[in-house]
Amino acid sequence: MKESKSNQIPSEKLWGGRFEEKASPIMERIGESISFDRKLYKEDLEGSRVHAKMLKSIGILDSQELDQILDGLKTIESEIESGKFTYTSELEDIHMHVEHRLTELKGDVGKKLHTARSRNDQVAQDVRLYIRNRIREILAIIEILREALLEQAKVNLDTIIPGYTHLQVAQPIRASHFLLAYFWMFTRDRNLFEFADSTNDELVLGSGAMAGVNYENDRDFLAKELGIPKISPNSMDAVSGRDHMLQFLFACTQTMLHASRFCEDLILYTSQEFGLVRLPDSLTTGSSIMPQKKNPDIAELIRGKAAKTIGNLNHLAVLLKGLPLTYNRDLQEDKISLFEASDTVLISLEGLAAMVKQMSFRPEKAERSLKDGFSTATDLADFLVGQKQVPFRTAHELVGKLVSECVKTNENLFTISESVRASISPHFTGEEYSRAISLELSADKKRSYGGTARDRQLEQMKLASESIDSKKRK
Ligand code: ARG
Repeated sequence: MKESKSNQIPSEKLWGGRFEEKASPIMERIGESISFDRKLYKEDLEGSRVHAKMLKSIGILDSQELDQILDGLKTIESEIESGKFTYTSELEDIHMHVEHRLTELKGDVGKKLHTARSRNDQVAQDVRLYIRNRIREILAIIEILREALLEQAKVNLDTIIPGYTHLQVAQPIRASHFLLAYFWMFTRDRNLFEFADSTNDELVLGSGAMAGVNYENDRDFLAKELGIPKISPNSMDAVSGRDHMLQFLFACTQTMLHASRFCEDLILYTSQEFGLVRLPDSLTTGSSIMPQKKNPDIAELIRGKAAKTIGNLNHLAVLLKGLPLTYNRDLQEDKISLFEASDTVLISLEGLAAMVKQMSFRPEKAERSLKDGFSTATDLADFLVGQKQVPFRTAHELVGKLVSECVKTNENLFTISESVRASISPHFTGEEYSRAISLELSADKKRSYGGTARDRQLEQMKLASESIDSKKRK
């Protein structure tokens, strides 16, 4: 942070009247939030503009004064955006910086701006505007990610890969199935952000410090100007409630959990051992010592960043627990988690979308794992049950024996000789046997709704497309 030269530091704080002593350096250092809440400058200026217009509409400012204030706020905005604005911890937070600079620029009229307003309702509104803006950005990037997942799913409809349980090869699936699993997770995340948005989008400005204000302020006007659909009905709740932020942080957390799980899959799948997926060089890094390395750093970093978001949610919950009504200074720190979590989600989703767009599957490696992992053993047992009237438990036992024989002789269901198979069961022979263990047929037999069969996948893709289109129409 740039420190202002001493002649620019105001001789008095904005509340200076009551105080005979200057704040001690520790009061200033521990009390400042400008080092982080300067991120709220746009929202603070927007709130102040609307507040000033409202003051004019109820006769506290005349039109000349309003014009001066609006002009001053515009100058401040360009000063901030061009890096010319001076920050000092003596002015504590973004709200006091703006008001102080306004007064420097426009004289006494600047001192009228804070009429019928407290920093308590001001910051509460700024934060709500900030969350609204971030949610818009997050929703946009979620759409990009969902489209990328659907696109990859279409490309990989006929790529058969292993599905895992216990991280052991379980059954053959279409790669589209794997990708669409994440599509639906991120769809639910989108829904959560929309829900958080509806809680968040409330007018709290006009609540004053906590009891309301001594002016006939026009909150309908404020709400309309800010494009907010509802007005908080209780000023005490308005200045101290943070449910909207909790919901936002929970949406961030759930999104990061999904992102992290996807990254974990990518980290595994791009490893030598799995080898199912390739990422482009541009999204990976090398090693300074090991020339052969290609590391999936983006995926690892997103997995790592998820930890911070979980911490942010926890931080806010603990911050709120036990706070008496109404505003307490502890609440100043809520923004640290809010900023961290929203920045983290945005950059992580961008990283994830880039990987999804550019990842490719390696069907030959997938086939190797599927065969070596006996992924169609269940299908073989079901063939005995369905076509040879063998009871399931017996079928399970027979296939188990065959697998055990393969393991002993380093074969798989595709390579083991027909004579060994026949010695275990006469049904393990001929074309029927080959069909029963086929990887592709196995996938297509999973015809239950939501399953991995080709036509079920097409059905899911249609649903996914509709979900994307309906979002676009909104
Ligand atoms: N910087 C403060 C915050 O973020 C603004 C509100 C200050 N209110 C007060 N009563 N000291 O919470």
